[in-house]
Amino acid sequence: MTETQWNGTVLYLLGIVQAIFVVVNANVWWSLGTNPRMLMVGVQPFCTELRELSPGQIRACQNHHDHMPSVGRGARLGITECQTQFKNRRWNCTTIEDDRTVFGPVIQIASREAAFMHSILAAGVVSAIARSCRDGELSSCHCSKALRPKELVRDWIWGGCGDNIQYGYKFGSYFVDLREKDKNHPRLSPELSRMLMNLHNNEAGRRAVYNYANVACKCHGVSGSCSLKTCWQALPPFKDVGKRLKDRYDGAVEVKFNKRGTRLIRKKRRFNKPTQDDLLYVNTSPDYCVANKTTGSLGTVGRECNRLSEGMDGCRLMCCGRGYNTFKRKLVERCQCKFHWCCYVKCRTCERIVDINSCK
Ligand SMILES: *[C@@H]1O[C@H](CO)[C@@H](O)[C@H](O)[C@H]1NC(C)=O
Ligand SMILES: *[C@@H]1O[C@H](CO)[C@@H](O)[C@H](O)[C@H]1NC(C)=O
Repeated sequence: MTETQWNGTVLYLLGIVQAIFVVVNANVWWSLGTNPRMLMVGVQPFCTELRELSPGQIRACQNHHDHMPSVGRGARLGITECQTQFKNRRWNCTTIEDDRTVFGPVIQIASREAAFMHSILAAGVVSAIARSCRDGELSSCHCSKALRPKELVRDWIWGGCGDNIQYGYKFGSYFVDLREKDKNHPRLSPELSRMLMNLHNNEAGRRAVYNYANVACKCHGVSGSCSLKTCWQALPPFKDVGKRLKDRYDGAVEVKFNKRGTRLIRKKRRFNKPTQDDLLYVNTSPDYCVANKTTGSLGTVGRECNRLSEGMDGCRLMCCGRGYNTFKRKLVERCQCKFHWCCYVKCRTCERIVDINSCK
């Protein structure tokens, strides 16, 4: 990946505050992740039928037809991880059925949440493509060709078939970013700021995978001795990628146009320039407290909260000061588990009544 590639997006001059809500073209490639046709094994829909693709992406699809199911799986991976990372937040990454944008209007505000979504989805595509290469599902890539890491123990063999993260990065950059590059936008326009922001965040997501490639090994040698190992390049666990991007979301950088209206720069200039790994956003998020059709906020009425927590999952913040209701719920669990020689575990079933709090 080139250092110069995104230097352009992050310049540090004085600027003008720009653009409140920017409405984007509703077709987004990541709805491939919720398109049931994409999730059927062995089915490759015609590219022109995939209304979620931009014109450039349709051509890319035609040239890389066999990649599309992996792109769909990557999007799915990103969506699922987003929901895990945000399950205790006011905005919890809810997908909206039959909505072409998957997330509804929320994602059309150039907010932190949109920044996170772009990064996690781009990261999902890198991961899914890298894995598909390894598994021999794609015609244009195979096992990783990554060089042997210098720190690998000398006796160990480098050469197992690894996840092709390099190819995943390359194809992911090409395909995902195409959607942003399909149009030319005028200087200072909200569409331009949106495009620069998305491109930057897509790249930050890919780097959260690419820069954290792991090494996995398998033992050989006399039974269990593990004196010899064969190793290969492996994807970082996607939950780690999610955690990393969630941290970047918490520290996301607010940006605005530079004076010439061609690049995005940090709004508070006394801090350092954002790096390629940072997430950028242009607009302040709504508070997501009450349902609002315009912003796409679903509100937090009825959300469960933790009475004892002072954090975002606590009732005070989650319910936005409206208070909460408490009710009882019966939990059925396995309990009093005993190990029997040899070899099984026997448990009883216990019921427990717990208090549940939910926002008014
Ligand atoms: C919804 O959000 C918009 C934009 O912030 C705001 O102008 C409007 O008043 C809100 N509507 C309601 C019903 O809260
Ligand atoms: C996410 O929030 C929505 C709207 O507040 C709610 O209906 C849904 O149950 C929440 N999902 C989870 C997993 O908490």
